[in-house]
Amino acid sequence: MRRGINFGALCLVASVLGATGARAEVIYDPATRVFRLVGGETEYDLGIDPEGYVQSLHWGAALGAPAPLAAGPGAGAAGPDAPHQNLPQEFAGQGEGFVPEPGIKVAFSDGNRDLVLRYAGHRIAGNTLFLELRDIARPLLVTLRYDVDPATGVVSRSAVVRNGGKASVRLDQFLSATFTLPYQPDYRLSYMTGRHASEWTMNRTPVTGAATVMESRRGSTSYHANPWFSLDREGLTTEESGPVWFGALGWSGSWRIGVGRDLFGRVRMAGGFNPYDFAWTLKPGETLESPVFHVGYSDHGRGGAARLMHRFVNGSILPEGSRTRPRKVLYNSWEATGFDVTEAGQMALAEKAASIGVERFVMDDGWFGARDSDRAGLGDWSPSRTKFPNGLKPLIDKVARLGMEFGLWVEPEMVNADSALYRAHPDWVMNFPGRPRTEARNQLVLNLARTDVRDHVLAALDRLLSENNIRFIKWDYNRTWSEPGWPERAAGDQQRIYVDYVRNLYFILAELRRRHPGVEFEACSSGGGRVDLGILRYSDQVWTSDNTDPFERLAMQGNFTSAYPASVMMAWTTEWGDPGASLEYRFLSAMQGGLGIGNDLNAWTPQDFRTAKAMVAAYKRVRATVQHGELYRLAPPDGTTPYSDTLYVAADRAQAVWFHMGHSVAVRDNVGPVLLRGLDADGVYAAAMIDGGALPEGIPAKASGAWWMSRGGVVPLKGQYAGVAVVLSRQ
Ligand code: DGJ
Repeated sequence: MRRGINFGALCLVASVLGATGARAEVIYDPATRVFRLVGGETEYDLGIDPEGYVQSLHWGAALGAPAPLAAGPGAGAAGPDAPHQNLPQEFAGQGEGFVPEPGIKVAFSDGNRDLVLRYAGHRIAGNTLFLELRDIARPLLVTLRYDVDPATGVVSRSAVVRNGGKASVRLDQFLSATFTLPYQPDYRLSYMTGRHASEWTMNRTPVTGAATVMESRRGSTSYHANPWFSLDREGLTTEESGPVWFGALGWSGSWRIGVGRDLFGRVRMAGGFNPYDFAWTLKPGETLESPVFHVGYSDHGRGGAARLMHRFVNGSILPEGSRTRPRKVLYNSWEATGFDVTEAGQMALAEKAASIGVERFVMDDGWFGARDSDRAGLGDWSPSRTKFPNGLKPLIDKVARLGMEFGLWVEPEMVNADSALYRAHPDWVMNFPGRPRTEARNQLVLNLARTDVRDHVLAALDRLLSENNIRFIKWDYNRTWSEPGWPERAAGDQQRIYVDYVRNLYFILAELRRRHPGVEFEACSSGGGRVDLGILRYSDQVWTSDNTDPFERLAMQGNFTSAYPASVMMAWTTEWGDPGASLEYRFLSAMQGGLGIGNDLNAWTPQDFRTAKAMVAAYKRVRATVQHGELYRLAPPDGTTPYSDTLYVAADRAQAVWFHMGHSVAVRDNVGPVLLRGLDADGVYAAAMIDGGALPEGIPAKASGAWWMSRGGVVPLKGQYAGVAVVLSRQ
C-alpha cells in the first residue's frame, strides 16, 4: 500500500505490477468516497452516495487526473418511480421496488422479501477490492470482489453472500455482477449462438429497453448461447477502432447474461447463475459464492477487445503450465473409425500419423466396456476385453515407440443404462423418483453433485491415468440435463445440484491435474458446447465444433476468436465439407488454431502424405505465433467478400503469418492489396510461402513492415476453395 501522488494526499492507493511491468491500481478517495480501479488502459469506478448506496460511476478508458467523480442522488425519479428504484447500483437487492435486474433476490423465513443493500465497509489488498454491503435491517451481507488484471485491465467481479441471521434464508437469484453504462444513442450488442455442428454464430443487435437475454438452462454452458458478450457503439466502432466493452462468465453450468436499457437509456447488464429453476437455502452462518464475471474495455475496436481477451485467457485463466506451452499437433481417430475401434486398426493409424509428424495420438470413443455403439458402455472405464485383450499397454507402447504421446477420450459424467455402473448404481443418475428418466444419445447424466459419485468418477480416472502412460484426455460431455432431481437431499436443498455439480466437476479436474501434472485436458461437449472461462481454468484446449468443414470453420473460428484465443481452439483436417476442397486448403483452415488431423489416413494417397507432412512441419514453425501472437482479422470470413484474411503477429513482431483464403472467387471480383497490421514498421521482413512454393508476383521477397502495412501484398486466387499463407520473418 502506498500513498497516491497524482490523486492527492488523502487517496489510498494499492498497486500491483504485472509480469510485463503493466500496473494495476485500486485507489480509494475517502473525501469523495470513490473507488478507482485502474489496469492497463482501462478504468472501472464506483462510489458510495450520501445514503450509502454503492453506485457504478465509470467503465471505460483510463480517466487520468483530476477526474471529478462522485456518486450523487442519481437521475432522479421518473414518473411514478421513486428515486431509489432506478439508481445505477453496483449490486442491488430486490427491495424497495428496485426496478432493474437486482444482483440478489431473497425470501427470509418470515416471508419478508425486501432486501436493501448499503455500504458497510471495504478492504483493499494489492489489486483487489473487497466491498461489503449489508441489508438496512437484517444481518445479510454481500461481499463484492474486484480483481484488476495489470496486463489487460480486465476486472474480475464476483460476490459472496453470508447469512448472519438465526434463521435460514432462501436465495431465489444470486448473480455475479451487474453493470451500468451511461446513455449513448447507439450501443450495439454482440453475442454468439449456435447448435450442434453450428456453433459460434455472431449476432449483433441494438440495445433497447427490451432486454436481450443470453442463457443456458441446460445444466452446462451449452452452445445455444455462449457466456460472452461485447458492446460497442454503432456510430464509432469498427474492427480496429472505437470503444468496445466486453465480458465473459467463468461458469460451466446454467448461466444468464441480460442486457437492456433502463428508463434513462443507460445500459444495464447482469450476469451469473441462471435464476431458472434456481433456489439455494442459506442456513445461519452459511455463505454462497458466485461465479466470476470478467469484463474489460478496449479503445481499439472489436479486434482490440479480442486481443485483450486472448492475452487475459492465455495469461491469467489457463492452468499455469499451459499458458505459454505450444499445443501439440494431434491425430484423432474418431472420424476414421467411429466406434469400430480395434488394437490393430489404431496401431496402423498411429504408424501413419507418426509418419507426417503428429506429436499426440488420440484414441476416441469406442475403446471401453461394451462400447460398440452409443447404446452401451458409458460408465465402464476399462478397456474392452475383445478389442484390447492385453489392455491399452501394447497400443500405448507402440505410440510411444513411434515418438508420440498417447491421448484418450472419456465421457466421465455420463452413463448408459446398458452398463455395469448403472446396473450397480441406478440411484447415481439425476432423477425424480417415480418419474421417467429421459435419455438423450441413449445416456443418462450422473449426479456429480453427490460426493460419492464425484469420488467414484475421480477414482476411475485416477486409476486410468495411474495405470497407463496417458498424456492427454479428451473429456467429452454429450447431453443436456432433463430431470435434475437429487432425491437424497431435503426438498429445499435439491436445487443446489446446479452449483454443486459444476463445483465437483472443477474439483475432479483440479485434483487430476494435481495428481498427474503431465496430463493435458481438452474440454469437449459434442463440439463447442462447454467453452467458457470456468472450464478453461482446468483445460488446456477445447474442441471447437464437430463441424470441420474447412470453409465453414473459417467463419466459426473468426467468431470464436472474438472471445477465446487461438491457443485453445482445436481445428482438425477431415473429409467434411465439399470434396473439392483440397487437403492443402483444409490444412490452411485448421492451421489457424491448434492443429489436429482427423482424416481416415487409410484412404490417403502418397501425395496426401507428402502434403500433410510438409504442412505439419510448416505449422510447427509458425504455431507459437498463431497460438500466442496478436490476431488481426483483416477481412473477416463472414461471407460478405470472396476473400478472408487473418493475420497472426508474434508478440515481439519478429514473425507474422498471413492466411489469405478465397471462396467462389468470380472473374468480376476485384483483387486489391491486403494491408497488414501490427508489424514493426522499421523492420525488414523476408517473405516465404508457408508451403515452400514460389512467391507470387505481388509478394516481395523483402520489404519493410511499413511497406506491408501501407502498400500490402496481392495474391489473386481462383476457384471454389483456394488459399495461401505467407510467412514474414524479420531479418
Ligand atoms: C462428440 C465429439 O464432439 C466427437 O469429436 C467425438 O468425440 C464423439 N463425441 C464421440 O462419441
